[in-house]
Amino acid sequence: MRLLVLGGGQLALMMCWAAARMPMEFLAHDPDPRAPAYRCAKKAEDPLRAVDEADYVTYEFENIDEAVADYAQRQRKLRPHIDYLKLKKNRIVERETLEGLGVPVPRWAVARNPTEALELAEKFGRAVAKWPAGGYDGKGQYLLPRETPEGGPLLVEEYVDIKREFSIVAARGEDGDVYFYPPAENYYVDGILVWNYAPTEAPPEAYRYVEKILGWRKYVGVLAVEFFEDREGRILVNEIAPRVHNTGHWTLETDASQFENHVRAVVGLPIKRPQAIAPTAMVNILGLATPPIRELEQLGKVYWYGKAEARPRRKMGHVNIATPTAEETKARARTALKILYGREFPRLVMRPRTAPRAAAEPVPPY
Ligand SMILES: Nc1ncnc2c1ncn2[C@@H]1O[C@H](COP(=O)(O)OP(=O)(O)O)[C@@H](O)[C@H]1O
Ligand SMILES: [Mg+2]
Repeated sequence: MRLLVLGGGQLALMMCWAAARMPMEFLAHDPDPRAPAYRCAKKAEDPLRAVDEADYVTYEFENIDEAVADYAQRQRKLRPHIDYLKLKKNRIVERETLEGLGVPVPRWAVARNPTEALELAEKFGRAVAKWPAGGYDGKGQYLLPRETPEGGPLLVEEYVDIKREFSIVAARGEDGDVYFYPPAENYYVDGILVWNYAPTEAPPEAYRYVEKILGWRKYVGVLAVEFFEDREGRILVNEIAPRVHNTGHWTLETDASQFENHVRAVVGLPIKRPQAIAPTAMVNILGLATPPIRELEQLGKVYWYGKAEARPRRKMGHVNIATPTAEETKARARTALKILYGREFPRLVMRPRTAPRAAAEPVPPY
């Protein structure tokens, strides 16, 4: 059996680690010859030919070539369904689709240009303007009225008074079997995930929203849904990720990780349910060329992606910390944050937030 992954970042790398002991051939395609997944995966040079030769095709993130995904969909090899990818190619389409499914989202509107965005922002009080495409980890987002947005059209939405951010990662097999990993509580700085903790609680309606999204085009694979809980008690879906997700990296400490379940589901194997789940934290290693490995290993397990170079905010690796108690796990996560980012946490290594406009090519998110 041959599985092709479009995109070769750390998510594809970790899928490959999970697939390595399974009876399958694992290929990845990425325009960057130094992509992390090539530490493990076979290199697929010509993506269309690789689709022809693969039994199944999946993708590790949204910014892949849609034409290749389309080609795989036409051969009925792509999982999850292409419509989830199309939705993620445009935040405005994402919002419309979620609302159509009856899933609550922050109040939003479309601005044709920056001036219109500022006018709309007045209506919302405080607002966030987002590029419909090309943004990630907080890039392409502007706080209004303080910042001046660029480009257009822009998705303009209310600034949510967030009490808590959590996510639910779910796996769905081709037989329709669904498993929800316990929700994770996520901590962001400047729009980028810094650390998270699981298991946490989520209200029943959150699971219903995830089910609706899974049912929309009969999802196959792992899906992540990011939620806001605001100070008035509203539960809103911020965005979805039709793939394995950074907020699910903690599941590597279970006996059925998101990566294993994604690979299993897309090749038609039944999904697995982890047997036991310890209180687990995940701390992202951002922007560092080399990790303080000895110190971090006193606290937990280090995963290093082997990227060719470090840049500010770039996800270079992560540490997973699992202990018998929530208190101990969180205490160790705080220590890891101190080791990595020092006293200046949370501001350190975070800049620059917006990529220079002059950059000719888009910077990949890994
Ligand atoms: N409307 C909003 N109100 C308040 N905070 C927001 C809003 N939109 C985004 N954020 C913050 O920025 C983070 C990243 O935004 P998100 O839309 O998830 O973009 P990305 O695709 O970069 O993850 C969120 O997790 C949240 O912390
Ligand atoms: Mg997000």
